[in-house]
Amino acid sequence: MDRVIIFDTTLRDGEQAAGGSLNIQEKLEIARQLEKLGVDVIEAGFPVTSPGDFEAVRLIAKEVRTPVICVLTHANLDAIDRSWESVKGAKRPRIHIVLSSSDIHLFYQLKKSREEILEMSCKTVAHARKYCNDVEFSAMDASRTDPEYIYQILQAVIDAGATTVNIPDTVGYAMPDEFGNLVEGAFKKVPNIGKATVSIHCHNDLGMAVANSLEAIKRGARQVEGTINGIGERAGNASLEEIVMAIKTRQNFFNLTTGIDTRQIYKTSRLVSELTGFPVQPNKAIVGANAFRHSSGLHIDGVIKAAQTFEIMDPKTVGVPSSSLVLGKTSGRHAFQERLAELGYSLSDEDFNRSFTAFKELADKKQDVTDKDIESLVAEGKRTVSEIYHLDRIQVTCGDRGIPTAAVRLIGPDNQALADAALGTGPVDAVYEAINRLVGVPNVLTEFSVKSVTEGIDAIGEVLIRIESEGVTYTGRGADTDIIVASAKAYMNALNRLLSAKKAG
Ligand code: KIV
Ligand code: ZN
Repeated sequence: MDRVIIFDTTLRDGEQAAGGSLNIQEKLEIARQLEKLGVDVIEAGFPVTSPGDFEAVRLIAKEVRTPVICVLTHANLDAIDRSWESVKGAKRPRIHIVLSSSDIHLFYQLKKSREEILEMSCKTVAHARKYCNDVEFSAMDASRTDPEYIYQILQAVIDAGATTVNIPDTVGYAMPDEFGNLVEGAFKKVPNIGKATVSIHCHNDLGMAVANSLEAIKRGARQVEGTINGIGERAGNASLEEIVMAIKTRQNFFNLTTGIDTRQIYKTSRLVSELTGFPVQPNKAIVGANAFRHSSGLHIDGVIKAAQTFEIMDPKTVGVPSSSLVLGKTSGRHAFQERLAELGYSLSDEDFNRSFTAFKELADKKQDVTDKDIESLVAEGKRTVSEIYHLDRIQVTCGDRGIPTAAVRLIGPDNQALADAALGTGPVDAVYEAINRLVGVPNVLTEFSVKSVTEGIDAIGEVLIRIESEGVTYTGRGADTDIIVASAKAYMNALNRLLSAKKAG
């Protein structure tokens, strides 16, 4: 059976999603999880676009040794030189050059002729090959390009040394059959195509990214690019977990395989959602909260009799935790440790102790502590690690007659306690005002949302916020059984990220 190379671009195209922002440690954490998931290639960033991206790629290249670590670069010799500096420490580095190919891009954006683009493509590929024997070339906007010209480019860049040639549907415009024809044409019309891996990269503007990717794979592409949870520019990229599970579940149709450990899918999805702050819609295939839940009586009856009546995949194969087991007030360290292991966590002693204390506090307030509560606790524990200001306590008065008022105490740098109070239009506004008086960093709140982690009146509430400062977005999350406290934690989380980024320069 042929193997499809899984190229993950969550840290590059995924992070390009509006409102997406990950710090260096978060990128490293995702890269480590992608390694556990078994992806073949991690596109770790676009180093020439920011010093933060450069540093993140350098660190991932040093620490994550199994997959190929790839960097994206413009088709420009200086950009290639700089990109190489970031990735050269990788065990298996790759340079990925992108250059537009469609007449629309050439005319309006690049103001260059087809001949000039062809020449730039070959020159930059040959330059990258001086550094690295793994070079990918992407003909951006390929699906809106004259196919004959695409084939001409592919042939030329392979001759210049490209080892992977990527055919992107950059604006998510193609239909599956049309895209399949374009890819199949490469095998028929590019004489040296056998010397390179043919890759595809599809966007989801018309909801076709996964369908187009699978059609292209059916027609011979052997590398597929995508992201976890399908995050990415505009409507996002092809969702890798959907592609992988389609290949696995319909092996009789594709007769192909991947190197993915599918039991790591759910955990990877949760981590990416948690760190990027992009929630997963409940009905999302494979990783949505409802993906394996049955509601109608007829379906439940069928599943009880034989799961395959209404389940085409076993939830265990994608690592979805079974929620049948709950912990409570009387559960001890050992039971908590075992449950964590079953959920796929291996925490440091410090993180374990922090999570266990939080678990005990929660169990005092809530009768049943479910897997989802535990995931939320672990995530909450990680969020409090690098704090410049720590939320010590808050007190709020509100109601339909009184003026919402909040008193806040923070522990600031050098461990000094700082306290202040403020009025607001509501309790959350009052808390944020009081925190602003203490921290004093101008910012604008651009997004605020609350959701409950589990069902029931005693559920943990998770708050997600985004703030903007000097054109950069920072995400913050907080969880608590009290949503005002969760809101305060989320705000502190975003502010601490902002302050750390400013400190790092
Ligand atoms: O969408 C696109 O064309 C890209 C390229 C860099 C592959 O992201
Ligand atoms: Zn893209």
